[in-house]
Amino acid sequence: MRVGIASDHGGFELKQELIGQLRAAGHEIIDFGAASLSQEDDYPDFVIPLARAVAAGQVERGVAICGSGVGASVCANKVSGVRAALIHDHFSARQGVEDDHMNILCMGGRTVGVAVAWDLVQTFLAAQFSRAERHLRRLGKVASLEAATGAGYERNASS
Ligand code: RB5
Repeated sequence: MRVGIASDHGGFELKQELIGQLRAAGHEIIDFGAASLSQEDDYPDFVIPLARAVAAGQVERGVAICGSGVGASVCANKVSGVRAALIHDHFSARQGVEDDHMNILCMGGRTVGVAVAWDLVQTFLAAQFSRAERHLRRLGKVASLEAATGAGYERNASS
């Protein structure tokens, strides 16, 4: 799978570890940065380009990491078409895709270890959206809210 990944300094070491594991597993990885560890960097500078690439279909799924995963998830969800969530458990890594069509997995580099993070990433990438009627109905309501309010970052940025 073609997968994008991004982190600030809080997730940099975990990002580098996951890139190696993802490439070894055969995935094509696009690294949206940070390119090096800098305590002064800001997660939106890396997460927004990743989120735009996911929304545009340039990568199939995304992994966004900051210290807690909170900032990454808040930020990614400002881009229209992104369904990002902060995930800590195996069940949600799978069901978030199957039921909610999650397309960006967010994690905290300071809150999960490498082994748990790798399990979450593998589970996220292996899961498929169910396309069940009830899930499509719910996501339609989310999408219509996004369209009606212009809630996405891209729309607000130009107004
Ligand atoms: C950066 O120190 C930290 O605030 C950031 O990585 C993240 O945890 C924000 O949610």
